[in-house]
Amino acid sequence: MSQNERTFIAIKPDGVQRGLISKIIGRFEDRGFKLVGIKLMTPTENLLKQHYSEHVDKPFFPKMLSFMTSGPVLATVWEGKDVIRQGRTILGATNPLNSAPGTIRGDFAIDMGRNVCHGSDSVESANREISLWFKAEELVDWKLNQMSWIY
Ligand code: RTP
Ligand code: MG
Repeated sequence: MSQNERTFIAIKPDGVQRGLISKIIGRFEDRGFKLVGIKLMTPTENLLKQHYSEHVDKPFFPKMLSFMTSGPVLATVWEGKDVIRQGRTILGATNPLNSAPGTIRGDFAIDMGRNVCHGSDSVESANREISLWFKAEELVDWKLNQMSWIY
């Protein structure tokens, strides 16, 4: 399994407004994953329609669109072994009422429409989402010196 796997993790407007940025980033850092991209931005409707293309025709989409464009989102890219699957585990189940305690959603959320964070669900969606939210030059290749203590 590659230590270079990458995933896209976003802190949604509710997470930013509630001051959860450092806690969420901290969980990925604490686990040993490497931050390779980060930016705060209010996404456009166009970006969101591409990002959530599988959901555009669903009944909840208009509400989700207005929520997601309502304020800044922290877009991040993380690198490490199995980070896509592990990232989803760190976030917890989509519906916070089903999220285990110890997960971000299980600790900080109650409502499906205010579930604080997003994580890519496959290699294909990770690649697609990373290139949607970041330009290649915004991603930083760097050596995490603690690596030999993690792997
Ligand atoms: P995300 O993409 O945000 O990481 O969430 P996910 O993979 O765990 O869940 P997904 O099925 O991709 O749903 C995307 C987001 O849409 C909202 N949602 N609302 N029935 C509903 O009201 C409903 N279903 C989904 C959630 O905010 C979910 O995170
Ligand atoms: Mg999803």
